[in-house]
Amino acid sequence: MSQPRTVAVIVGSLRKDSVTRKVARAIEALAPTNLRFEEVPIGDLPLYNQEYDETDPPAAYQAFRDRIRAADAVLFATPEYNRGLPGALKNAIDVGSRPYGHSAWNGKPAAVVSVSPGAIGAFGANHQLRQSLVFLNMPTLQHEAYVGNAFSLFSETGELVNEGTAGFLTAFAQTFADWVEKNAAT
Ligand code: FNR
Repeated sequence: MSQPRTVAVIVGSLRKDSVTRKVARAIEALAPTNLRFEEVPIGDLPLYNQEYDETDPPAAYQAFRDRIRAADAVLFATPEYNRGLPGALKNAIDVGSRPYGHSAWNGKPAAVVSVSPGAIGAFGANHQLRQSLVFLNMPTLQHEAYVGNAFSLFSETGELVNEGTAGFLTAFAQTFADWVEKNAAT
C-alpha cells in the first residue's frame, strides 16, 4: 500500500450544521484508507489585508499557511453564495496565497466538490473556485462533483442515506486518491 497522504479539507461554509461539511465528511468516510483528511478551519482568518504581510501578519495567517504547507493535497468543499463562492472561502484562498512568491497552495493536487440544497449543485461556485486554482498552480481533478438537493441526502443524525450519492462520492474519492498519488510532491 502507498504511503498515507494528508488532505487538508477546506469547507467554504462557516455554519456549524453545514451540509457542505457533511458532504466533505462523507467523502472522507468513503475514501481509500491511504488518504487522511483534516479540516483546516477558515472562520478565524481576518479579512486579507496586504499591509499585514508587510509588517506583522496575524498569527492565524501563519498557522493557516503552515497547515496547508504540511498537507499533501487539498479538498475544497463549497456552497454557493449568489452564484459564486462564499467570501470566507475566497478570503482563505487569498491568505494562503501570500506573501507573493510564497503561496502555500503552490503545486498541491486538489479536488472540488460543490454542494447546494438546490438543483444546480452550486455549479457557479465550483467553477469560480476552479478559476483561482488555475492561477494558484494547483493540479485540480477534472472529475466534476456538483451535489444538488443536498438537504435530502442526509438523515437527521447526519448520515448519508442516498445510495446513488454514496456511490458517486466513492468513485470521486477513489479518483482523487489516484490523482493525489500521481501529483503529490514526493
Ligand atoms: C445562498 N444559497 C444559495 N444556494 C445556491 O444554490 N445558489 C446560490 O447562489 C445561493 N446563494 C446564497 C447566498 C447567500 C448569501 C446565502 C446565505 C445562501 C443557499 C445555500 O446553498 C444554503 O444556505 C446552504 O445551506 C449553504 O451551505 P451550508 O452552509 O449548509 O454548507
